[in-house]
Amino acid sequence: CGITGFVGKGEALPFLMQGLNKLEYRGYDSAGVTLVDDNGLYTFKSKGRLCQLEDLLKGESHPQKTGIGHTRWATHGIPSNLNSHPHTNAKNTISIVHNGIIENYQAIKKELIRQGYPFLSQTDSEVIVHLIDYYDRGNLFAALQKAVRYLEGSFALCVVSVQDPDTIYVAKKESPMIIGHCASGSFCASDIPAVLEYTKDILSLEDGQIAVLKADGIQVYDFQGELQKQKWMHIPYDLQAAQKGGYDTFMEKEIHEQPYVLSETLRGRVDNDVRMDELKEININWEKLERVYFLACGTALNAASFAQDLFRQWVPACPSFALAASEFRYGNYYLNSDTLCIFVSQSGETADTLAALQLAKEKQAKTLSIVNVLGSSLARKSDCTLYTCAGPEIAVASTKAYTTQLVLLVCLMIALSEKLGCQPKDVSKLMADLKRIPEITKDMLAQQEIVKDYAQCLKDQKDAYFIGRRLDYFSVVEGALKLKEVSYVHADAYIAGELKHGPIALIDKGTVVIALATQEEVASKTISNIEETIARGANVILITTQYQDTHAFQKVLRIPDVHPALAAIPAAILLQLFAYYGAVLKGCDVDKPRNLAKSVTVE
Ligand code: G6P
Repeated sequence: CGITGFVGKGEALPFLMQGLNKLEYRGYDSAGVTLVDDNGLYTFKSKGRLCQLEDLLKGESHPQKTGIGHTRWATHGIPSNLNSHPHTNAKNTISIVHNGIIENYQAIKKELIRQGYPFLSQTDSEVIVHLIDYYDRGNLFAALQKAVRYLEGSFALCVVSVQDPDTIYVAKKESPMIIGHCASGSFCASDIPAVLEYTKDILSLEDGQIAVLKADGIQVYDFQGELQKQKWMHIPYDLQAAQKGGYDTFMEKEIHEQPYVLSETLRGRVDNDVRMDELKEININWEKLERVYFLACGTALNAASFAQDLFRQWVPACPSFALAASEFRYGNYYLNSDTLCIFVSQSGETADTLAALQLAKEKQAKTLSIVNVLGSSLARKSDCTLYTCAGPEIAVASTKAYTTQLVLLVCLMIALSEKLGCQPKDVSKLMADLKRIPEITKDMLAQQEIVKDYAQCLKDQKDAYFIGRRLDYFSVVEGALKLKEVSYVHADAYIAGELKHGPIALIDKGTVVIALATQEEVASKTISNIEETIARGANVILITTQYQDTHAFQKVLRIPDVHPALAAIPAAILLQLFAYYGAVLKGCDVDKPRNLAKSVTVE
């Protein structure tokens, strides 16, 4: 979900709407705003896209100088007007917007119903407004303080009230919230693009803090009411970076930004050696390192699995495991202070990944995160953070964040293997090729028209199968994920050698098979597997290196000569373009696929 809030000298609504517009990628099944002045609260909500809320607000003037807004991605309760935020109390004097999940909402709801409070929605969030009302004795700050102490779970929360129409109260626990200030007023939002038009200096609220926003300034307290020191930071990227540029969609723009963001991510890292000074922040005896876990979700998990395979190749003596963060808490995995947990996340706010970090910390494991969003929860809570420099990624389907994760993970695996007395195979070629990655990516983008043409094969297809071996397998898992996310084509990825053990039963005349054969040691075996699918009528697209004999194939895409550990990056570009053009062909809303959210802040 996305939150905005504004209190200032001019109208609040324009800020709220532009902010929600920039945040719509965080969730978009309904949207709403509450405006407030001395005379009352004015709440407008609508199911569906933000434009439906805009229609509702048209034609009337909205002079109020204070307001809060929300775009929702349903967790409790179906998308509907009643379930959308803001939620107000029965007297219509207090209004709230909330991100996160209130875990004990059933118990609170039961008690409040017993006290006579009427509930209109099925959401967990509605309990918050009634709870504040319950504690309200004329001092909203005190009421909020009492309420937040009672709430279990996660929340980023904005509250406005008629008794205090010139103030927004903001509370945070385990859900992101940032605050900004400029000449026209003070504001808050759940993510940076919402405020960039107004300021580049932001305050990232910490867990357990309440901020009091007024037109002329901001004060931050802890939940006990102690005034807190404010840590402001400067955002290095501009608003343009958060907009579409000349492209039709954010996804297309973000695919094309990869040469630049990859060079940004590599900046200052690669010379004769890899530079990773941040590793000093981990208080660990490397000689005693017992095991490494890689933890992530979605696309970041595919990057993590790739890194685990590299680590196994280069540091065979140290066991390593890549796991879905959502499973980690339940698997009874062995953790101690000689364990290193590596978290990979674009947003740094994914609830499953944060829960895995929490467990790692409880067991005294050392924590390192690879994150894209500056100052995000994962970054703040880990012993050490390495930033991918992908800039804001707006399209729900991750592209540039993924390839920057890959390149940074390769650097990290080189640095770790050196620390552990090992060395990657062909390390001098690897270092030389790392420097060429931005150029190589450009060459891949130049093949877009061919990929677009090949993507036509999806026209009447409901299914597509991706195959590869060794590192190529992780790339095809991501390629298949990308295709299903944006085009709704059912896409599965298989280890090429496993095809004959079952999945080949699915291959029929015209079945689309995308095969990746970039790993020299197994490429010829993969090619044999592909020939088996052609014999059964498959329509194959082969992505391979310059060296392979491809005379048996009609649709071939080539990646340049590159160290095998880096082949995943040019391959990713081709697979992203394939998914993109497949989705465009099918007329899908590429940037906002159904049922998906950019940042999933619930477990
Ligand atoms: C969501 C997104 C995915 C993303 C995953 C992990 O499910 O839809 O695209 O890969 O979260 O997000 P993170 O921000 O932790 O990388």
